[in-house]
Amino acid sequence: RVIRIIGVPIDLGADRRGVDMGPSAIRYAGLNARLQRLGWQVEDLGNLNVPVPETREIQDTHLKYLPEIAKVSAELTETVAKALKDGVVPLVLGGDHSIGIGSLAGIAAAGKKRGLIWFDTHGDYNSPQTTHSGNIHGMPLAVANGIGVRELTEIGGPGKKISEENTVIIGARDFDLDEREMLHRSKITVFTMSDIDQLGMKEVVSRGLEIAGRGTEGIHVSFDLDVIDPSEAPGVGTPVAGGITYREAHLAMELVAESGLLLSLDMAEVNPILDTHNKTAELAVGLICSAFGKKIF
Ligand code: ARG
Ligand code: MN
Ligand code: MN
Ligand code: MN
Repeated sequence: RVIRIIGVPIDLGADRRGVDMGPSAIRYAGLNARLQRLGWQVEDLGNLNVPVPETREIQDTHLKYLPEIAKVSAELTETVAKALKDGVVPLVLGGDHSIGIGSLAGIAAAGKKRGLIWFDTHGDYNSPQTTHSGNIHGMPLAVANGIGVRELTEIGGPGKKISEENTVIIGARDFDLDEREMLHRSKITVFTMSDIDQLGMKEVVSRGLEIAGRGTEGIHVSFDLDVIDPSEAPGVGTPVAGGITYREAHLAMELVAESGLLLSLDMAEVNPILDTHNKTAELAVGLICSAFGKKIF
């Protein structure tokens, strides 16, 4: 039972600066010790090398910092693939949600067929044609599904990195118009906030686990902290009102743990500059612990 922590201090995929400090804030909130207390052996690899935006120039406004993000994603792909080959559990700390590109490519490169649950306010399913912001953190799920430029979609080898039928988004409440269309045309399952209100988080996650786990070796969870209501997770770059509660978030992660399906995890978009007293990073650590088996009693 080994968790290998991989920090990715990247904010090149987002407009607001500060998510590059996410890995530090999450570690500062006591991540390693708390996982050890749960009985996990923790190997912390430290952080990948990520260029600082001030040292670079934006070349393509539809794909901001593409070469830099492609390079970091390729390195993350190799690091995640190696962790899986070594038989340990990769825990990727963002950084903006462009980290999903490397995580999912790494899983695919390791030859694993696994489902995906993407907890997010957003779809992160834009292409260079549909994006309004040009920010690559709005694209990782599309990239993993083979949509976008080859510099990103072919990281870790050609072909799709996810199985659409086994991919689920939970907590959605803010899609761009064309992004929404593309998601409709895909076989990805979307549970919106409205679904959570109507069915309850327990039912939504149970259905999500069933879909993601069907015919796969297990699942990857990619968790964007902005899925949580901004009152409880203020430290995110793209806050949207009406998010899931602290308790719903923990329930979701406890159900993930109980399923026994979790094989790898991303925690993305913690922005310490926008946070109050590291509250969002502390919540992130709590959720990681719930996902890895912490029980109250
Ligand atoms: N849809 C918007 C965009 O493409 C927002 C994306 C937010 N993504 C995130 N990982 N927080 O720019
Ligand atoms: Mn996201
Ligand atoms: Mn988001
Ligand atoms: Mn549009």
